[in-house]
Amino acid sequence: MFVLFGTANAQRIAIMGAMDEEIELLKVDLLHKKEVRKNGITFFTGKLKGQKVVLLKAGIGKTNAAYSTAILTANFKLKGLIFTGVAGGLHPDILPGDIVVATKMIQYDFGAFKNGAFETWPTRNLVQNNKRNTLYLPVDSYLLEKTKKVVEQIKLAPFQHRIPKIYTGVIATGDTFLSDSKKAEELYSNFKALAVEMEGAAVAQICTMLKLPYIVIRSCSDNANRNAPSDYAAFVKVAAGNSAQMVLALLDHYKGEK
Ligand code: ADE
Repeated sequence: MFVLFGTANAQRIAIMGAMDEEIELLKVDLLHKKEVRKNGITFFTGKLKGQKVVLLKAGIGKTNAAYSTAILTANFKLKGLIFTGVAGGLHPDILPGDIVVATKMIQYDFGAFKNGAFETWPTRNLVQNNKRNTLYLPVDSYLLEKTKKVVEQIKLAPFQHRIPKIYTGVIATGDTFLSDSKKAEELYSNFKALAVEMEGAAVAQICTMLKLPYIVIRSCSDNANRNAPSDYAAFVKVAAGNSAQMVLALLDHYKGEK
């Protein structure tokens, strides 16, 4: 038997974004759309590119994302989870509109100060005797492999006279909107992180604990430097759109597969 994302009797693919802009385009395309509200979270069920999905806005930051993921996983039978949205690019080559597909996630702000320097700690697995998770949380290898196939085929619209580039690599998560080039360089040099955002690794930790296959796809709205607030305002729509295009292409890629 061919199993797509994971458990045999799995039902839907969850698609999460932190903000309205990040799920809006997907909501428009949702067929047989139904709305259900649980514990303050609105879930949209339906079909996207022939796949049964549940779409939701997770809220900004790790706590909101964790709360939404908990309510989601308690109420829906899932075969996988795709997180989509915008991020700050951490490498100068990465420009607004470019996409980063996560290979692994890290919560860069979980840890302690030691001798004046911040040391990032691995999180703990609450459902497995509080054992340490790995410092980097790898995304699902099957989903990553499929996403890489999509990368070879997708045709993104040109933006500012170039076709957006698609990178694969580490994405770092913390509860800060980063607008500081020194910290951005540090995240790149310490963790080889290509992008920074505020939810992905929290969701990744829960998916890891629940053994739910997941992937994080982000498109950059800014470079996490002093221009980040204005770049973000200017490019959030384009970036959110590019990430949503990747999600649609990924779902389309599964057509015919169970
Ligand atoms: N999401 C988009 N841009 C971001 C930034 N600069 N820092 C954190 N999250 C972001």
